Amino acid sequence: MTTIDEFPQARTCPFAPPPAYARIREEDPVAQVRLPDGRPAWVVSRHEDVRTVLNDRRFSADRGHPSFPQLVLGAAVTGAPDEEPVLLSMDAPEHPVARRAVLGDFTLRRTEGLRPRVQEIVDERIDAVLAGPRPADLVEELSLPVPSLVICELLGAPYSAHTFFQEQSTALIARTTPPEERAAAGAALSGYLGDLIAEKEADPPDDLLGRQIRLLRDQGSYRRSALAGLGILLLVAGHETTANMISLSTVAFLRAPEQLASIRADPTRTPAAVEEMLRYFTILDAATARLCVEDVEIGGRLIRAGEGVLALTYAANRDPRVFDDPDELDIERGGRHHVAFGFGPHQCLGQNLARMELQIVFDTLFRRIPTLALAVDVDELPFKDDATIFGLHRLPVTW
Ligand code: HEM
Repeated sequence: MTTIDEFPQARTCPFAPPPAYARIREEDPVAQVRLPDGRPAWVVSRHEDVRTVLNDRRFSADRGHPSFPQLVLGAAVTGAPDEEPVLLSMDAPEHPVARRAVLGDFTLRRTEGLRPRVQEIVDERIDAVLAGPRPADLVEELSLPVPSLVICELLGAPYSAHTFFQEQSTALIARTTPPEERAAAGAALSGYLGDLIAEKEADPPDDLLGRQIRLLRDQGSYRRSALAGLGILLLVAGHETTANMISLSTVAFLRAPEQLASIRADPTRTPAAVEEMLRYFTILDAATARLCVEDVEIGGRLIRAGEGVLALTYAANRDPRVFDDPDELDIERGGRHHVAFGFGPHQCLGQNLARMELQIVFDTLFRRIPTLALAVDVDELPFKDDATIFGLHRLPVTW
């Protein structure tokens, strides 16, 4: 059986999964890896098997469990206090109840209602880019502020807090952040959210946090610290993910001018292009970890209760059994059966919002700055291989 001794593996090319992924998927689709703390875990790499793991209740998402496979030493994924389980770490029967309570804020209809405001935010940021010096750092000027502003408004947090949010969430997801700094970032967010929620309690406003206070009170289950945990999860999940997708996809479009020309000529192609970018980069690859709680046979191997499993969504998204020429970027591919948003009960809650933000950014950015170009060679770009979420630290562009 294949064992990969170092995990997580770096992406040696920013446009492709770590080289070992293709090998294990073809030769040993349920292989073993050694985690940073020295413990072994299973890795599942075929599309079908990844979906099975993520959709089967015999695999638990309880990230606080001592046997849960941790990719980052000493890390709580969201920074929420350990005793406060967040959506991402819950199992049935608690998980569907908690998810249902917040789902209303992320439906397609609700998200579409935000479209005019998101468009306004994107236009304002691009105005600022055009008014500023060349080259500009697109990460700083566009990729981070757009999702940051959107999530602040959604939660009902003042925009003045967005730099603080950005800094803390960046510290939380960097693998290189020392454990004590990561804990401090979690505590700072937790304190801030707790105060913000406390202010809303007397007369809960019509924003996500205010609506949650009312709803949970009606259900008799309101606890401030639990709501702060949800707030942190949404802040962190809403920041770095979409931001990195904006930066990476911009690079990919600039490297594929004919595909860029295609969405510029016909913006109805942009939604399919967004799906392809999500598949092509799969930025949140091994975050889809689980703990087996009942023996299960997968891909001919027996996984026992108590063993950790990593569902490698990036390997699945390049599985030639499902995607023709999987290593090619092809925005005409269509189809949403990629697993970049995960699969099953924990599938990304913010996916409608993320899709909309990405569509608006691409349509607006390349329309308003048609001569946009990288200001440095692709080889010189600082890709973020030191974080739980793949992305770019900086993206110098000119026009
Ligand atoms: C391109 C952007 C994004 C990507 C690639 C992404 C990816 C993912 C993935 C892979 C999961 C599943 C984790 C698992 O199964 O363990 C997930 C869950 C989640 N995402 Fe996203 N996400 C994105 C944007 C967002 C945004 C904008 C928000 C919120 C505003 C968000 C909120 C969440 C939440 C709350 C969960 C946990 C859901 C649950 O456990 O029921 N995500 N995301």
